[in-house]
Amino acid sequence: MAIREILKYPHPILKKRCEEIGQIDEDVKELIRDMTETMYHTNGIGLAACQVGVPQRVIVVDVSPLDPEKEFFALLNPEIVFEEGEIEHEEGCLSVPECTEKIKRREKVVVKGLSPEGKPIEIPAEGILSIALQHEIDHLNGVLILDRISRLKRELYRNRLRKERKKEEKD
Ligand code: NI
Repeated sequence: MAIREILKYPHPILKKRCEEIGQIDEDVKELIRDMTETMYHTNGIGLAACQVGVPQRVIVVDVSPLDPEKEFFALLNPEIVFEEGEIEHEEGCLSVPECTEKIKRREKVVVKGLSPEGKPIEIPAEGILSIALQHEIDHLNGVLILDRISRLKRELYRNRLRKERKKEEKD
């Protein structure tokens, strides 16, 4: 197992639509192990493979710090097959540092996918699990929380990033 580097906005891989997993080979299993370790290391509640530079449809989720009844899982080729209602919640993202914004999501979703063993699974979710699943599936489609906020807020974030970079160059 290894902790992998998390790509940050505006890295181009984060804008890509990720590829479906065909065969679950040793590389995919290692990817899942590394993503899990990286997620825990960074205190995240979810991570998508593209965030560690692998544009494939793999996510890991563990919302138990916020909802202790829920458990860790990894999901391949996740797909939202049902959605209902609306919910607004403050979200952050390991790939968009120092940005927390209220994002509108569906309140309930049902997500289908494959387990790391290749078994079809269906996850009914609401609350923080529903939000985390939608956030990670967004990543697989090249969508960041920055794409879900107003243009003005996005510009403010970009300006802040630019200023910080300039400051870093000077230091
Ligand atoms: Ni994220």
